[in-house]
Amino acid sequence: MSARDKIFNALINNRDDYISGGQMAADFGISRNAVWKNVKSLQEQGYVIEAVTNKGYRLVKCPDILSPELIKKELNPALSGPDIEVRAEVTSTNTVLKETASLHPDKDYLLVAGRQTMGRGRLGRKFYSPDGDGVYFSLLLHPKLTGAESQYLTTAIAAAVAKAIEKVCGFNAVIKWVNDIFVNGKKVCGILTEAVIDFETAGLEYAIVGTGINITTPKDGYPDEIKDVAGALYEHGKAIPGVRNSLVAATINYFYEYYEKLAEKPFLEEYKKRSFLIGERVKVIGNIAAPDDYYEARVLDIDNDLRLVIETPDGGIKTLMTGEVSIRKI
Ligand code: BTN
Repeated sequence: MSARDKIFNALINNRDDYISGGQMAADFGISRNAVWKNVKSLQEQGYVIEAVTNKGYRLVKCPDILSPELIKKELNPALSGPDIEVRAEVTSTNTVLKETASLHPDKDYLLVAGRQTMGRGRLGRKFYSPDGDGVYFSLLLHPKLTGAESQYLTTAIAAAVAKAIEKVCGFNAVIKWVNDIFVNGKKVCGILTEAVIDFETAGLEYAIVGTGINITTPKDGYPDEIKDVAGALYEHGKAIPGVRNSLVAATINYFYEYYEKLAEKPFLEEYKKRSFLIGERVKVIGNIAAPDDYYEARVLDIDNDLRLVIETPDGGIKTLMTGEVSIRKI
């Protein structure tokens, strides 16, 4: 842990009291001057830290900013989780991690951003990622999974995000097969998993699981092409302070509970429980470029291989694989 992280933790764990610079210098094996420099850097990030002669430093206010320290603070202490980096703006957290994956050959790595200029969605779509209204994060993993099993990563993170939204915000979050999270009938989160296969072993070289959560409705609303579907957890300017850090941390905590035994599909029960298509009538679109070419069906279940089990109008039973079709609720 860096000296800055140690100082931050000391301040946040003693929020009501002053901690002397000398004490922190002795505890962390650094000079008083180094303590002061790190405090200054935290202040520059927007933390309000009071400095009183003969008393020391006291954390008065945390800004509502994305911060690796605040995310770490809410992570399960027993978790040997990812290294964490926060950036104000990136092209796409998935793209950046793909370009820099070789820098993190062994360790999991979490990149969190406040804005994406080229956020990517599934099927080559864009993912609208405006500043201040969402949180966008990707997790670089080195899982021991086959290519086919890599789908479990998506399902596990979907279950984890839904649980995190419920825990942190108190909203009922449901999942639209395969990986869209809905709250109050609107899509508030999308997930894009990308994996690189090692052809020699047929296993994964690495995987990147990217999640975008719409926290607040943008001031001028969503762009026309997504406004019927997209929604956010809160109205503009009405999010609870610190919710972005808390949602990232809670998602990571829940995800890693599943990740440890991913091949056993520990997420399945939670995923199915929250899947709102089960029992519903849907349109099944074979080719997304031709959305008028569809047939109607009723969703019976999601099977243990995460396929959608449907009943067609002629009474036949079919199973649909992810990526094969697009589903619209009727
Ligand atoms: C979808 O709904 O089609 C998937 C959207 C996935 C968006 C997330 S935001 C973080 C990560 N970076 C990206 O460019 N995309 C994913």
